[in-house]
Amino acid sequence: MEERFELVIIGGGPAGYTAAIEAAKHGIKTALIEKDTLGGTCLQRGCIPTKTILHGASLYAKAQREKEKGIFGGELKIHMGMLQEHKREVIHQLQEGIAMLMKKNKVQVISGTGSILDRHTVLVKEEGERKIFAEKILIATGSKTAVPKIPGWNLKNVLTSSEILDSEEIFPRLTIIGGGVIGMEFASIYSDLGCQVTVLEFMDRILGNMDREISQNLKMILKKRGVEIHTGAKVEEIKQGPQGNLICTYQEKEERKEAVSEGILLAAGRHPAAEGLFEGSFEIETEGGRILTDENGETSVRGIYGAGDVTGGSMLAHAASAQAVNAVRHMAGKPPLLELSCIPGCVYTDPEIACTGLTQDEAKKQGLEVLVKKYPMSANGKTVLSGEDRGFIKVVAEKESRRILGAQMMCARATDMISQFSAAVVNRQTLEDLGRVIYPHPTFSEGIGEAVRD
Ligand code: NAI
Repeated sequence: MEERFELVIIGGGPAGYTAAIEAAKHGIKTALIEKDTLGGTCLQRGCIPTKTILHGASLYAKAQREKEKGIFGGELKIHMGMLQEHKREVIHQLQEGIAMLMKKNKVQVISGTGSILDRHTVLVKEEGERKIFAEKILIATGSKTAVPKIPGWNLKNVLTSSEILDSEEIFPRLTIIGGGVIGMEFASIYSDLGCQVTVLEFMDRILGNMDREISQNLKMILKKRGVEIHTGAKVEEIKQGPQGNLICTYQEKEERKEAVSEGILLAAGRHPAAEGLFEGSFEIETEGGRILTDENGETSVRGIYGAGDVTGGSMLAHAASAQAVNAVRHMAGKPPLLELSCIPGCVYTDPEIACTGLTQDEAKKQGLEVLVKKYPMSANGKTVLSGEDRGFIKVVAEKESRRILGAQMMCARATDMISQFSAAVVNRQTLEDLGRVIYPHPTFSEGIGEAVRD
């Protein structure tokens, strides 16, 4: 007998498993198809493993810096094998958590590769093939690393972020191609681990989508730690060097240069993973490989939805799960729960970077008259006592109403503190609304109070 579900979700990452849990809340009979293990890129090759390695590397680097002050003594070593083991345990624990949630919510998890045959039929291929009837379908297949086909991209020790994340080796020198979010997080990790890092970025600045001041500040901080950053760098080829090292040739300001290292990380973006999703003549509207969706998450075929990286956009785990929740609520005839117009962006470098809402430039482009307030974290007690690097909190508000439009932060715990500003943007609060709040002392969050008050 044909299996029938009210909702069939293809992909078990943050969009897919969050959608399944939301569906259970509305009493929707759901199946979740996953070809790998539950958790998606975020849990297996992205957010969680990267931040676990980063946590270890950052502790190590901080202790080294304290050692320089004479606070700690003796030899300090990092054991990459143990850190990798810890990473595997973290992934395993969280994976089990998701599996348990699926069970508790009576979601049927089906192992295999899902594709869409027609509006109501999903095909699952594993050893054999099975057809599943779906009243509604959610495509949540995520994204894949975009490997730039630079000559030599497939040489040994030219790695993607997923590959380097599993490596126990700390290369003495690492060249990173791409100065976006992934590139800069790995530059921070590997320089913390004592590796000589060189970043080659094609555009005129690193973190090109972020506030300009953030790019400049991060560049300065990393430079002070010995990271070489070349912007406007057009990579031409990678060759095997004479001593088993790798030579990456690039053009910078019309000049041909070389970066020599033992390892190369390719961090030049990600692509939506939509290939092979449709069988025969069945089609859904796409653009540049991403599935197009409307404000409800519905695709060009009614009843088929998309959420997460496969729909393009910001490609962030929290954006994916928020889109998924709203999409399932739309299927259930419920209003959206989450405000998708304000998606925070976080970069887990040291110091952390976090942004929400509009930057000054974006607000100006929208014709808004703005007021920008900035607080240097070098004046924050907790920042000084914990030996953190210089950073700042910047708040963008509408001039007349003093309504907060956005914020950009670069300081310790920025990725946790940004939510205060997201709450202000979503709930249309003013500078005074945040200014009335008492922030405990000594904390990093005191900087928020200082930034919003006159
Ligand atoms: P990205 O698009 O942020 O950055 C890629 C960078 O590589 C760009 O600046 C681009 O100009 C540069 N580039 C491309 N080809 C190049 C070449 N041949 N030579 C030199 N530079 C080149 O992509 P990234 O960093 O790979 O991240 C992928 C996605 O994953 C993003 O959407 C990002 O938001 C997301 N992500 C988010 C994280 C977070 O929230 N903390 C962490 C990791 C990824």
